[in-house]
Amino acid sequence: MQAFTYLSPTEVVFGKGAQGRTADYVRRYGGSKVLLVYGGGSVVRTGLLDQIKQSLKESDLSFEVFGGAKANPTLEHARDGIRLSIDSGADFVLGIGGGSAIDTAKAIAIGAANPDTDIWEYWSKRKMPVRALPVGAVLTIPAAGSETSNSSVLTNRETGSKRGLSSDLNRPRFAIMNPELTYTLPVYQVACGVTDIMMHTLDRYFNPLDNELTDSIAEALLRTVIAKGSVAIKDTHDYDAMSELMWAGSLSHNGLTGLGGKKDFAPHQLGHELSARFDSAHGATLSAVWGSWARYCLDADVSRFARFGVKVWGLDPTGRTERELALSAIDATVDFFHS
Ligand code: NZQ
Ligand code: ZN
Repeated sequence: MQAFTYLSPTEVVFGKGAQGRTADYVRRYGGSKVLLVYGGGSVVRTGLLDQIKQSLKESDLSFEVFGGAKANPTLEHARDGIRLSIDSGADFVLGIGGGSAIDTAKAIAIGAANPDTDIWEYWSKRKMPVRALPVGAVLTIPAAGSETSNSSVLTNRETGSKRGLSSDLNRPRFAIMNPELTYTLPVYQVACGVTDIMMHTLDRYFNPLDNELTDSIAEALLRTVIAKGSVAIKDTHDYDAMSELMWAGSLSHNGLTGLGGKKDFAPHQLGHELSARFDSAHGATLSAVWGSWARYCLDADVSRFARFGVKVWGLDPTGRTERELALSAIDATVDFFHS
C-alpha cells in the first residue's frame, strides 16, 4: 500500500423522506441565510424545490434561489451565482439536483468566500483556495458522486476547457439521499450515471499496485452497480436498485475504492475533453473512450484485466490464458456500456 490520507467527513442522511430533514441539517452546520442552487428545472417540476423552501421557512431560515445550472455547468453561470451569493449575504450554499447543481454550489461557495479572486484561477490550478462557505447537497441522481467528493468540475466556454478542482473545501457538510427522488430520471440519465459510477471505480482500480482489500471493495461495488443498473434502466421506480446505485455513487467517488493505490484518471480527462467540445453527457463520454483506453493499456498489466474479468464479470478461468480472459473482460464491459 502507498501511504495515504483519507477524509470523508460528509454526514449522509439516507432513505425515504430524508429531504424533510434538510432545514435541520442546514442549521446544524451553521447556515442561516441559504442560497439554493439547482439545475434546469427538474426539481421545480417534481416539487422538491418547494418542499425544501417550505421546510426552510418553517425553521425560520431565509433563502435565495439560483437555478439554471446546466449539465456540464459553466464558469459564467457560477460567476453569476457568486455575485448573488455575496449580494444576498448567504452563509450556506445548498446544491439540489445532480453533479451539475452540486458542483455549481461548490464553485459559488468558494467564489463567495474569496471575492477578490476570479474562480477560474482555482479551476485552472494557478491558485488553491483556502476558504469556502459551507455546502450541503440534496441528491436527485446517482452518478457523479459530488455529494461526498472533494471535486467540482466547471466548463469555461471561452477557452473551451472543462476542468476539475480537487480540494477538501469541496466536501459537502451533509448529503441528503432519498432514492425515491431519482424515480423521475430519464433512462438515458440513469445509464449515464451507472457508467460514471463504474468509471470512478475503474479509474482507480486500474493502477499498478495490488491492494487486496481496496481491490475487493472496488470489485464488489462494480458487481453491484452492474446488477442493479441493469434493473434500474428497466424500472426507474425500483427502490432497491436505486438505493444500491445511490450509495455506490457516493462510495465510488469519496476515495474509498482507491486507498493505497495510485490514481489514474486518464479516461475521465479524455471524457472531459469530449464534453468541453461537444457538450456530451459526462457518463456517455466515459463509455465512448474506455474500451480504446483499456486495449491500449492492456499489456501494461494483463493479469489485472484478467482478474477484473473473473471477479467482476464472473468469467470462468478454466483452460483460458490471462490474455484471453483480459480481452473478454474488456469486451464484456464495452457490451454493457452499449446495452
Ligand atoms: O438540470 P435538471 O433539470 O435538474 O435535469 C438534470 C439533467 O438534465 C436531470 N436530472 C437530475 N436528477 C433528475 C433529473 N431529471 C429528472 N429527475 C431527476 N430526479 O439529469 C440531467 C443530468 O444531471 P447532472 O446534474 O448533469 O448529472 P450528473 O450527476 O451526472 O453530473 C454531471 C456533472 O458532474 C461532473 C460531470 O463532469 C458533469 O459536469 N462530475 C462531477 C464530479 C464531482 N464533483 O466529484 C465527478 C464526476 O467525475 C464528474 O466529472
Ligand atoms: Zn465521473
